Amino acid sequence: MKEIDLAELERDFQAKIDADIKIEPKDWMPDEYRKTLIRQISQHAHSEVVGMLPEGNWITRAPSLRRKAVLLAKVQDEAGHGLYLYSATETLGADREQTIDDLHSGKAKYSSIFNYPTLTWADMGAIGWLVDGAAIMNQVPLCRCSYGPYARAMVRVCKEESFHQRQGFEIMSKLANGTPQQKEMAQDALNRFWWPALMMFGPNDAESKHTAQSMKWKIKRHTNDELRQQFIDISVPQAKLIGLSIPDPDLKFNEKTGHYESGEINWDEFWQVVEGNGPCNKDRVDTRRRAKENGQWVREAANAYAEKRRIRKKAS
Ligand code: 3HC
Repeated sequence: MKEIDLAELERDFQAKIDADIKIEPKDWMPDEYRKTLIRQISQHAHSEVVGMLPEGNWITRAPSLRRKAVLLAKVQDEAGHGLYLYSATETLGADREQTIDDLHSGKAKYSSIFNYPTLTWADMGAIGWLVDGAAIMNQVPLCRCSYGPYARAMVRVCKEESFHQRQGFEIMSKLANGTPQQKEMAQDALNRFWWPALMMFGPNDAESKHTAQSMKWKIKRHTNDELRQQFIDISVPQAKLIGLSIPDPDLKFNEKTGHYESGEINWDEFWQVVEGNGPCNKDRVDTRRRAKENGQWVREAANAYAEKRRIRKKAS
């Protein structure tokens, strides 16, 4: 393509973005725009699917039939979110099998938060309240993402996330107002999940290699630090409301700015977990790889059945 044509195409593309016109699969888009969307949406899908594992660990051990049914519904929602988002990557030309193989080979990233163990039932509360709460903070702006299929997928996903967050906060509230042992279990879960939840928003803006460009392309509508701050400002009063304390000795409210100022995140821990050295990284990826192997016969049977129907239809 001639230089001049490419420059004109890029100018027209950015003008659409600036005018908040959605980019659709069949529209021309810069290769880099396509690449960063495949990168972000595939990692988002992997996060949903791997995110089922920590909670799946407690479905058989839920303390009541009601809790079991609610947790089951939540985990099933996450599976649906993953499939939705894998489909969104396919609208950009990604190959689903390759995308999933990238997760199983350890090549693809997924959210660091899912590499922490779920040790008690209270962790189901902390995950719903904090992890899904952080996910909502990050996903609501994605409903206004410049790429049409991703923005539309997020509208449905966010509706379900708010149920996830509420059921989690209800678990934490019940435990925090229960016996001293239950309150202690809830506080322990908050102590273990608070800082990893802040890490979900990604590195500080100064360290983020994608934020500036993603903001220009309106893939991101807010920076990592802006969303993290919103999450802290909402979550600290929620913890206070149920009598739990945020495990951050440096946390203080700044009357002037109206925001909470928090202590420094352990970025060494963050990058260790992102690079595969977290407490559960190996177990999570192995479990996903085994799930694919164990499900191979189902895919083969479904493909054989579809092929048989195709041949029968052709013959009739
Ligand atoms: N875990 C793992 N990797 C992370 C990370 C995290 N918490 N935060 C950042 N990273 C990675 C990025 O992927 C990028 O690596 P890459 O170039 O190899 O992809 C690198 O660190 C630099 O980070 P940036 O901030 O520059 O990268 P992004 O602009 O992509 O921002 C993000 C990171 C904010 C996570 C962004 O990708 C995003 O908004 N993704 C969509 C939402 C999402 O994936 N959320 C994850 C949780 S989903 C969930 O919780 C499901 C719920 O139902 C429970």
